[in-house]
Amino acid sequence: MVVPEARPFAKTGGLADVSGALPQALARLGHRVTLVMPRYRGIEPAPDDTRTPFDLAIGPQHQPIEFVERRIGKGLRAIFVDAPSLFDRPGLYGVGNEDFADNWYRFAVLSLAALERARSEGKAPSAIHAHDWQAGLVPVYLQTRFAADPVLAGVPSIFTIHNLAFQGLFAPSILPLLGLGWELMHVDALEFWGKVSYLKGGINFSRKITTVSPTYAREILTPELGFGFDGVLARRAADLVGILNGIDTDAWNPETDPYLPEPFSASRMDGKRTAKRELLETLGLGVDNASMTRPLIGLVSRLTDQKGFDLIESAAERLMALDASWAMLGSGEPRYERFWTALAALHRGRVGVKIGFDERLAHLTGGGSDLFLMPSRFEPCGLNQMYSLRYGTLPIVRATGGLDDTVLDADEGGAKGTGFKFRDYSPDALVEAVARALAAYREPRRWRALQRTAMRQDHSWDVSAREYVKVYREAGRKRH
Ligand code: ADP
Ligand code: GLC
Repeated sequence: MVVPEARPFAKTGGLADVSGALPQALARLGHRVTLVMPRYRGIEPAPDDTRTPFDLAIGPQHQPIEFVERRIGKGLRAIFVDAPSLFDRPGLYGVGNEDFADNWYRFAVLSLAALERARSEGKAPSAIHAHDWQAGLVPVYLQTRFAADPVLAGVPSIFTIHNLAFQGLFAPSILPLLGLGWELMHVDALEFWGKVSYLKGGINFSRKITTVSPTYAREILTPELGFGFDGVLARRAADLVGILNGIDTDAWNPETDPYLPEPFSASRMDGKRTAKRELLETLGLGVDNASMTRPLIGLVSRLTDQKGFDLIESAAERLMALDASWAMLGSGEPRYERFWTALAALHRGRVGVKIGFDERLAHLTGGGSDLFLMPSRFEPCGLNQMYSLRYGTLPIVRATGGLDDTVLDADEGGAKGTGFKFRDYSPDALVEAVARALAAYREPRRWRALQRTAMRQDHSWDVSAREYVKVYREAGRKRH
């Protein structure tokens, strides 16, 4: 499995949660998994690591690298591609909102190195699974450079799209530097509007394509959410499947979460109040009786248009008129950082904001809030709504992608309801959904029933991991 980030080693978003948990779930099913990713800054050597130097021939260059192999558990190992000049940097993909200019090279090295390593072990893996554009060249190299390789020829590749908005677009002049032929500068290969797209490579050269929810798998075939790739994907629709992400039920468990002040569960909810108090304190909001009883709406997010922050901005005045407090943890586009900082100053005591990336506070916000808001414009899967369900924090979501697949509206779903959903990407629809959620909060018995249903939802990885195994097997049977 080739990934650009994985928990607990390096994380910027949900992909790291998935590539941390899926290999473990596969290993629990009895499979042997090798996770290949860069050795970023902060991934420190461990005593039992084994290091193997390797001279990676890429285009006209020789890139010296080292493979750092680490056993993680039964059936599971990580191989870190160590090349300090490429990966020992202050960020994974860039600094601030600026991407590194050589990302095309850094992730070509990752992809090629993964294949060279598999080859040098002399035994073909039964499948190679690459994630997102950063690993998009894995299927490409497999079908070109290694097409006749005694070890790797015929090995099926699977490509997973976590977010179609990130396409890995670069100037065509990189092709010779990657050791790839000009014939790949073709609409059926890597060419995308005059550029080279690693995402397109992953889509066109893999045997099977997956994405992270059934609804998103349908949405990306439409012009609205296809980001220019709907046609490309439509041609491969027979090989495209949506598999809903699971969640790591050990890392996100209110009964054992080390980031919570007190454990809680569906039958013993006192700890949730303690978490709310701690969250309010952490964000400098009052903990008097009125603040404790007022419903608290949490957000933990990258601050981008994808996540619906423009919608929140348009609706802000009306949202602030509702009787609720807000806890927002996030970082991203400076305009949204400024907006939330200003909002907190304007509504002191009722809006608490922390700009940054903070794992402890992410757990505390999920656990200590009453409601959790995700008004995404599009959402391939989304994980926070599933974490929230587990903590009895009812999600308010826009009905898109995985949000639509994982939340059932309380006013439509009756006894099965787990949250609040709206469809239109409009301030009106957002405000209406938040108001409905707040009305439900004022009915304690109904609220408790909704919380109990939410906390009973099973989004553990086992089911989804089995679906991936099915896809690996199908890919093995199929010739591209
Ligand atoms: P995406 O990958 O699109 O950002 P997901 O919902 O799939 O969205 O996953 C986001 C992950 O990143 C979750 O685990 C969430 O808790 C975490 N996260 C997002 N923003 C922050 C933040 N500011 N601090 C800590 N964790 C964050
Ligand atoms: C992407 C998507 C998010 C998804 C995550 C993990 O970051 O934006 O919706 O949950 O990948 O698959």
